[in-house]
Amino acid sequence: MTLRRKRTAILISGRGSNMRALIERARDPSYPAEIVLVLSSRPDATGLAFAKENGVASSVVDHKIYAGREEFERSMQVLLELHRIELICLAGFMRMLTPWFISQWPGRLLNIHPALLPAYRGLDTHARALADGVRIHGCTVHFVVPAMDEGPIIAQAAVAVLDSDTPASLAARVLAEEHAIYPAALACVAEGHLRVEGNRVFTREPATELVPLRVPFKGRKASRRRIGG
Ligand code: GRF
Repeated sequence: MTLRRKRTAILISGRGSNMRALIERARDPSYPAEIVLVLSSRPDATGLAFAKENGVASSVVDHKIYAGREEFERSMQVLLELHRIELICLAGFMRMLTPWFISQWPGRLLNIHPALLPAYRGLDTHARALADGVRIHGCTVHFVVPAMDEGPIIAQAAVAVLDSDTPASLAARVLAEEHAIYPAALACVAEGHLRVEGNRVFTREPATELVPLRVPFKGRKASRRRIGG
């Protein structure tokens, strides 16, 4: 049975390395999502160049030119509908979304956060994790709800915190994990393999890609484990 690939948009505001990981993964025609649109809230987002070079339609919806959040979001919504978007991935998108926008995309709006939620919501997650002396840090892909960095968790990856770590070195290892779990999580959502109950996300078999937990500690080859299977 051939699966129709889900038309997916990525919303960015800057570098776009997660966007790039998603676009690269989705080059595989058997991947269940197709990246058809990149929207940036900033005209100077460096990620836009990669989207253009790779033939992905892109638009800037410059939040600064709108009177308020709702006008800004309504412009994005028009573009998303024009491109018949079915799923949205936030990838370093630095605008808070209103409950109105979020309510347009129930179960279809994903975000990636550079911490093991519910710990370290908000900004500067790596510096805060180091300051707290935690030994395990990581990243989370979750569905977006109208509360910052909350919502049912689809996938997480953990990294060990090393004695030598700085916020930058920790961020780099976490980012490598982000690039692995975001495409896996999107695939699972696109395939319709998830069931959400309250805050919990359950995986229906057979999920081809989802790795709810990925624990690649200190230089060892990444081990992949499935929870609850
Ligand atoms: C990532 O760390 C992501 O988790 C967070 O913002 C950062 C965006 O990086 N939401 P990039 O633009 O994808 O490189």
